[in-house]
Amino acid sequence: MKILLVCLGNICRSPMAEGILRAMIAREGLPWITDSAGTIDHHSGEAPDPRAIKVMKARGIDISDLRARQLRADDFKEFDVLFAMDESNLRNMLAIAPDKASAKKARLVMDLAPRHALREVPDPYFGGEAGFVEVYDMLTQAFTNFVMHGER
Ligand code: 4NP
Repeated sequence: MKILLVCLGNICRSPMAEGILRAMIAREGLPWITDSAGTIDHHSGEAPDPRAIKVMKARGIDISDLRARQLRADDFKEFDVLFAMDESNLRNMLAIAPDKASAKKARLVMDLAPRHALREVPDPYFGGEAGFVEVYDMLTQAFTNFVMHGER
């Protein structure tokens, strides 16, 4: 399975999502492939936000190798599922989906955690470090359900 994690800038939420998911995949020995992208290209080529790197590192996951890139229409062909962090990301993704069949591959990541109170992963960019911890906790819950409990 090829999984793409998508947010706005690809420097906060989606690289954290990729780091959490690829760590679980490695731990479980699954042959899955991950990548992440942003709907804007403003941060293309940049490493994740230092706050994202720090919060992840404190939890044993190194995401300093990741580099931002913009989402492209071909991603809908290449990946089996594309997880949006919020409704705005999902709308922006659907706007460039090449056809109806591939548009169906785009979903909200918190659909994987139906019992969580929030349906969207809050954008932590303009806040403090606590926002990044909340993102970590939410995504860990979502991907634990996905990888360990087969939630789809
Ligand atoms: P992300 O956070 O979408 O989680 O990577 C943001 C990063 C950059 C901006 C906004 C959100 N920005 O406006 O540049």
